[in-house]
Amino acid sequence: MSSDAYAAGLAADRARVDAFLARLFDASQAPVPRLEAAMRHALLVGGKRLRPVLVYLAGRALGARAEALDAPAAAIELIHAYSLVHDDLPAMDDDDLRRGQPTVHRAYDEATAILAGDALQTLAFEVLARASHPRLPALMLTLAQAAGREGMVGGQALDLAAVGGHPDVEALANMHAHKTGALIRAAVRLGALTAVEEHDPRVAALDTYARALGLAFQIHDDVLDVIGDTHTLGKASGADAARDKPTYPALLGLDGAMARAHELTDEALAALAPLGEAGSPLAALARYMIERDH
Ligand code: IPE
Ligand code: IPE
Ligand code: MG
Ligand code: MG
Ligand code: MG
Repeated sequence: MSSDAYAAGLAADRARVDAFLARLFDASQAPVPRLEAAMRHALLVGGKRLRPVLVYLAGRALGARAEALDAPAAAIELIHAYSLVHDDLPAMDDDDLRRGQPTVHRAYDEATAILAGDALQTLAFEVLARASHPRLPALMLTLAQAAGREGMVGGQALDLAAVGGHPDVEALANMHAHKTGALIRAAVRLGALTAVEEHDPRVAALDTYARALGLAFQIHDDVLDVIGDTHTLGKASGADAARDKPTYPALLGLDGAMARAHELTDEALAALAPLGEAGSPLAALARYMIERDH
């Protein structure tokens, strides 16, 4: 399947999670409309929904029904959306454009952006906690660990500490594995654990897939910052170099970074072998991850 054809095939799962996310605002009792509006701005407009799609694909590959995957898919996107709101804040990457629109602190104000991020994060756990599933504690734990100090937040702290510094490839891989890889691994694991027990060997195979995929994804994000254009990306290109961010292209050069992303994609594809034909949508997604233009 070509990457374009595959991208078209993602539309159904995107629409599915979008509908679920939109419904979260229908019966909200939140006291401040401005906060609600800021949350909707961060969550409902734009975004590739790659992490929810990964939940659906991994879960289906192991036999889960889509209905059982909706809450984990929505929960991971809520965490991701919150992470973007905070990532863009002046104290962090200080960006003005996200998903083709002004960042939340630009459209509203900084305090509202902080609070909208906070509320998106807690809403993720609320959504998951409402799901009835026999392995709910494992699902909650997966999300909490991936989001927090051992995962995304820890990675963001590494990222900030590394600005202007010269981390080697190992340190950069570690930073990327935390700030981005953790949520991608969690997405795959949430899908897998919705379908089967932890000890099923396919859960470990999928984790190997997700580790490689997560790093390839962030390397490609670094590459797009160099070769992409702001309009297509929906966020400012060239922002990493402007802020002296440690990235794969900065360390390995553009060709070196792209080659590494391809190697990792091959590793991700190889890890899918135990799934047989059931793994082919996940294989297509891995190829799409490093061919995407935004
Ligand atoms: C952007 O993630 C932030 C990174 C972790 C690199 P995505 O590229 O998945 O952003 P959206 O959700 O499509 O906006
Ligand atoms: C973001 O990495 C990782 C997050 C945890 C949000 P980047 O800072 O590279 O993401 P973009 O390029 O702003 O989307
Ligand atoms: Mg950042
Ligand atoms: Mg950023
Ligand atoms: Mg980036």
